[in-house]
Amino acid sequence: MKRNLSLAAKWNIVSELYHNDIELEAYVNFLADIGAKSILDCACGTGFPSLELAKHGFKVTASDNDFESLNILKSKMNNEKISFPIYHISWENLDVNKLENQFDAVICLGSSITYFDSWDENVRMLSSNHHSIIKYLQGFKKVTKKGGHVLIGICKLYKKSKDVDPIPFPPKRIDGLIYNMQWTLHYNWKSKEKTWNCLVASNSNSQEYEFSVRLISHLYDKSELIAYCEAVFNRVYAIDICPSPYHDIILVCET
Ligand SMILES: C[S@@+](CC[C@H](N)C(=O)[O-])C[C@H]1O[C@@H](n2cnc3c(N)ncnc32)[C@H](O)[C@@H]1O
Repeated sequence: MKRNLSLAAKWNIVSELYHNDIELEAYVNFLADIGAKSILDCACGTGFPSLELAKHGFKVTASDNDFESLNILKSKMNNEKISFPIYHISWENLDVNKLENQFDAVICLGSSITYFDSWDENVRMLSSNHHSIIKYLQGFKKVTKKGGHVLIGICKLYKKSKDVDPIPFPPKRIDGLIYNMQWTLHYNWKSKEKTWNCLVASNSNSQEYEFSVRLISHLYDKSELIAYCEAVFNRVYAIDICPSPYHDIILVCET
């Protein structure tokens, strides 16, 4: 029998299969280069990259509006005997916990920004108000120190020249099982919607270790997202820091 996994539990496995050490190293080096010490991972999910950044000596705070993801992160922190503040909070309310002007860098990675109102497998139709992204970007700005940076990650595959991307990931071992993962991304550039289909299967005989995820989210190409960021931040530029075909390019927003 297949387990009825929550989105957070599924993402926790997907995140392990998707993220890698090369990507992590790129973030660590870039954050060090811009002189960031205090960091808010405002879309921390189940802990990438907040947990690893804390191990690298950054002063980390993590937040997310998905309660179950935060519980998974807390249990990982307990297991690894790592401690940092965690807030269950949405991006537009980041300033309510005395977090204003607290951080050298605020990071929102893993294309999280495209899910600003749709991190939920039950969403079938998106709000058409793309402009509401501005209020979330303003939330990021409020908690960043003057002279600090907001780093927004967006998958480098989102390009108007195509409407589908099949992505087979290399097999990876987790807790003694070999997992295979396949993504298919569909882009509807007219309605500005992306559908992410993800299939995960392991070499276990038990179907317990197989699942799928389908999420609908907003869709921007790099230049559209830059234009929204420029409405909020002083200076914005894009940088490709990770030598992988499907990880994020980073929009660096200076406050
Ligand atoms: C693609 S996951 C990325 C998680 C993690 N950074 C990673 O790369 O593994 C997107 C995360 O953004 C969070 N999120 C989406 N909209 C949000 C909002 N409005 N406020 C706070 N968190 C939000 C979701 O709850 C989810 O954990």
